[in-house]
Amino acid sequence: MLEAREAVRKLKQYQPPLGDRSGLRLDFNENTGGCSPQVMERLRKLQPEQMACYPEREPVEREVASFLGLRPEQVLLTNGVDEAIHLVYEAYLEPNDDVLIVVPTFAMYQICAASTGARVISISTEEDFRFPTSKVLAYTTAPKTRLIAIANPNNPTGAVASAEDLLLIARSAPQAAVLVDEAYFEFYGESLLEYAGQVQNLFIARTFSKAYGMASLRVGVLAGAAEQIQSLRRSCSPYNVNGVALACLPAALADQEYVRRYVAEVQWSRNRLEEEFRILGIPFWPSQANFVLTRIGPSHGEFVRGMKARGILVRDRSSDFGCDGCIRITAGWRVHTERMLGALHETLKEIGWGERKPA
Ligand SMILES: Cc1ncc(COP(=O)(O)O)c(C=O)c1O
Repeated sequence: MLEAREAVRKLKQYQPPLGDRSGLRLDFNENTGGCSPQVMERLRKLQPEQMACYPEREPVEREVASFLGLRPEQVLLTNGVDEAIHLVYEAYLEPNDDVLIVVPTFAMYQICAASTGARVISISTEEDFRFPTSKVLAYTTAPKTRLIAIANPNNPTGAVASAEDLLLIARSAPQAAVLVDEAYFEFYGESLLEYAGQVQNLFIARTFSKAYGMASLRVGVLAGAAEQIQSLRRSCSPYNVNGVALACLPAALADQEYVRRYVAEVQWSRNRLEEEFRILGIPFWPSQANFVLTRIGPSHGEFVRGMKARGILVRDRSSDFGCDGCIRITAGWRVHTERMLGALHETLKEIGWGERKPA
């Protein structure tokens, strides 16, 4: 009987809680209001003939490169950052190579490693989820370390690593592909993009799924040194990004006012959430992304169910490393945050918060 490779057979399927997701979706770090109206206008103008054509990625890639201040050879558009991660892993990892990740973090870094047969070395964050620079540096020079994947800001913590530390890591591991995933860049504002090309082993990933509100269209960007991006193009499908997404991307880039407005709303919501947690005495970790991680404690399951019953979806992150009793809540448009806070108060009352603080 046909069997998948052993590494694939051993994989645990990544199962985001899809199923019934009716309600206000504060569980996937999406834009809570959708994409720019200009993107919708572009969508409405699409013609039937365009659906029949294989998509042409390169012209849009040139626009994105120019927007990012890079040369087109340094940029690859991908089917979301998810595909960018796959491509980098496939290009650089042999079975039994080592991948360094810092946990807790985005699940795909581990899943992609496992499917290549590489070994994952999970380095735990410091207290309060601070980035463990010196622990990472202890592994970077090992010849078997061929890939280092870091989300900055990190998911699910919202914590960041400094540009200096990330560059130090990349420079100390010239034999490894260093992938800095800036999916939440717009909410933070600091980036390593200017080093793409200068540091030969550094890759920067960005997405249109979060601040731009286009997760459904699936578009990400991978930037790096031209020679490395050229290698990745060899294994990438020429049609990896669909034509609808490519048609909409220039409209999304053109409407930076929409992105600025949304980022301001997220920053307001993030501050409001953190302020409320402070008042209520609920532990949380200051975040640079569009979500806040908080520790509800042993009643985390009850809390998620209580919020859902009130039409608000939040994400239980209890099973992530170091996140026992933790819930991640997306910060979006302020009207959504205000609605969420109403449900939060009711749910906390229901689960007896205050009487049962986390251990
Ligand atoms: C750190 C990080 N990278 C990448 C992604 C996925 O991005 P995309 O939708 O572009 O595949 C996520 C989604 O939650 C994320 O948290």
